[in-house]
Amino acid sequence: MAKVKVFRCRICGDPYIGLEAPTRCPFCGAPQRFFVDAHDWNTNEFNVKLSEISRKNLDSALKIELGNAAFYECAKNAAEKEKDYYNFAKFKTLMKVENEHAAAISKFLKISTPNLEKQACATKAKVNTQEGFERENRAIKSYKKFRDEAVEPRLKEFFAALVEIETDHLDLHSYNLK
Ligand SMILES: [Fe+2]
Ligand SMILES: [Fe+2]
Repeated sequence: MAKVKVFRCRICGDPYIGLEAPTRCPFCGAPQRFFVDAHDWNTNEFNVKLSEISRKNLDSALKIELGNAAFYECAKNAAEKEKDYYNFAKFKTLMKVENEHAAAISKFLKISTPNLEKQACATKAKVNTQEGFERENRAIKSYKKFRDEAVEPRLKEFFAALVEIETDHLDLHSYNLK
């Protein structure tokens, strides 16, 4: 029998058990190449001396992630009420992933992850998918800017990973809008 191993995602820090690293982190959505064998984990991965600009940009990123997580929570509940189980599943996983991003950002900022504040959303999943598309688009624009402004290589890498992950979400919404 093949032997399972423990891996860790360098973007969210979460561990994963499997035969190999998953194509996308089930927690934060990061691509496979960000996984390392748990034996090789760098304990200082989230311990970065932050420049003023990166601290400011991490604060803004935290607001974006918390807002989007709360929006997806509302969209998930609306889909469940409508018995739309595909969109319930989609918005649920998006809510969890964005929350995981908020948690990773909080680790860099050395704060505990703030709770979600209620956000409004529509009743219909299609309308929420359109809003999700716009939210992901805005997040990608901000994270490209934060990536370019980061002077710390680790934060450049982190924001670049968020750009890739949110682009997956944008693509998903755009298939669903067709
Ligand atoms: Fe991850
Ligand atoms: Fe995110």
